[in-house]
Amino acid sequence: MCGIIGYIGEKVEENLLQGLERLEYRGYDSAGMTINRGGEFVTYKATGKVENLKKTLKFNDDLGMGIAHTRWATHGKICIENCHPHFSSNGNVALVHNGILENFEDLKAELSKEGKYFYGQTDSEVIAKCFDRLDIKSLRRVLGKLQGSYALALIAKDSDSIYFVKNKSPLYVGFDGSQAMVASDPSCFVGILTEYYTLEDGEYGRINKKEAVFYNKNNEKIEKYITKLDFKVSYEEKTGYDHFMIKEIYQSRIALENIIERYKQEEIINKLKLLKNYEFDRIYLVGCGTAYHAGLIGGYYLREAFNVDVFCEIASEFRYKNLNIDDKSLCIFISQSGETADTLSVLEFCKEKGGKIVSITNTEYSTIARLSDICFPICAGQEKAVASTKAYFAQCLIFYIITTFLKGKDYILPLQNFKRQIDFGDDNILKPLAKNLVKYDKVFFIGRGVDYITAKEASLKLKEITYIFSTAESSGELKHGVIALIDSSVPVIVIATDEKLFNKTLNNAYEIKSRGGKLILFTSLQIDKDIKENFDYVIEVKKTSKEFQSLQMILPLQKLAYFTAIEKGNNPDMPRNLAKSVTVE
Ligand code: F6R
Repeated sequence: MCGIIGYIGEKVEENLLQGLERLEYRGYDSAGMTINRGGEFVTYKATGKVENLKKTLKFNDDLGMGIAHTRWATHGKICIENCHPHFSSNGNVALVHNGILENFEDLKAELSKEGKYFYGQTDSEVIAKCFDRLDIKSLRRVLGKLQGSYALALIAKDSDSIYFVKNKSPLYVGFDGSQAMVASDPSCFVGILTEYYTLEDGEYGRINKKEAVFYNKNNEKIEKYITKLDFKVSYEEKTGYDHFMIKEIYQSRIALENIIERYKQEEIINKLKLLKNYEFDRIYLVGCGTAYHAGLIGGYYLREAFNVDVFCEIASEFRYKNLNIDDKSLCIFISQSGETADTLSVLEFCKEKGGKIVSITNTEYSTIARLSDICFPICAGQEKAVASTKAYFAQCLIFYIITTFLKGKDYILPLQNFKRQIDFGDDNILKPLAKNLVKYDKVFFIGRGVDYITAKEASLKLKEITYIFSTAESSGELKHGVIALIDSSVPVIVIATDEKLFNKTLNNAYEIKSRGGKLILFTSLQIDKDIKENFDYVIEVKKTSKEFQSLQMILPLQKLAYFTAIEKGNNPDMPRNLAKSVTVE
């Protein structure tokens, strides 16, 4: 995580600030900026969000050069000392870092013996302390010492260039004769540059207004292809909404419309055909957090359609399972950002083993997309709120499309019908429920079959933005232990969309009621009045066709999490301790 940016040109503070605002999704523990003006450094630092840094800035329209950083803390507490940029001991070199230096303790001990003083606790400061001067030779010497992941941007008081390095953290660079830039995300170039270079692992170099010089990991000078900045970064405003999260929940409908349009195109049909031609005898679905839950839904679709083993795996656990990956393995990676380090490292592992690599992502220029044999876009548009909502919805839809296409059936008409039926739930019921939920310090979710997956996703959404302890259990598993936690202080949200499983789920709900637990039912089924009376709340969600019912159900549950966060006074867009893009393992 963390976002880094460097800029040479006019209005340095303004352009760096704009970049930081675009990178803030990568972390918002602190933000900092160092500008080289006439051979002297001017530094600004603030804990918390970029808006805090903005208040301290003195804007200057003259030519200049600077680097900036937005932090998601890994090593060392959130304080000004640990805020980037960091400096060499002689103060000549300033650096910003995204990644984790794995051997920082050893290096720090070595540098301390040389008499170097450390003002903070970060691994990044250790890299800065390895420098005294900045040129390609000293950069190479320091790179030889580093182990771990790092995207670095460096400036020196006596240099006209930004130096850069990329290893396992994303970095892009660009210049146009009057300005130059490096950034963790090419969205920072929008409105400034029209072309950019994508760095690969091990590459490094320097850039100024006139030229970019690149070296590969073998220290050979290389030429790189330039990419046109052809994607539009729509800087979504909250217009009409209090937060991005609630806007994005409603944008699920737009994502569905975008998918319908894009998945009619030949470009996508060709990808689907290519996938259909693959020979595989196993499918692995890999992701983290919400993306993993979308994989569980994908597994549910694929298993219903095919007689083939489907394994859904959490990326960070994948390598410990000794799974059998070979050229008969279809490996599907789900990632909104396309940069999640855990997911990316499994992708690289599966690629090395000869697996067929498919990704489902919202970021078509991302590393995961670039490394895939086939990349399916989810067409959700920029997702700014940290808690993923419309991306989950869209990822599940892509699994529906893939499964339906592989079965040889039409997917457009069912999607169009679903679009007409989407129901976001009744705020007049959800808001009072949220008001009630904040009184509790824990909430349980239960469900069976696909409803258990929805329960997991709903529970994750609730805990990450309300900080209320929450967990999801399969209804049948309760009595094997978890029911010991149930008493009158525990609300249990029961999710029921499957007619065939309803009676069993109902019995499990009654087991909770007998022990005093509060029951809240989210259902799309027609339920008798006397059954409803057993529940403290009943939230009825519109029925849609079976394959979309779990997607329909997640929408009001996402809104419930949102309203509960608001009741608690939290900012649902930027929950504590989290970041939108998780680029460390
Ligand atoms: C939760 C959430 C996270 C992400 C996870 C993977 O709301 O957003 O759990 O789903 O960090 O991120 P991506 O999809 O970018 O790989």
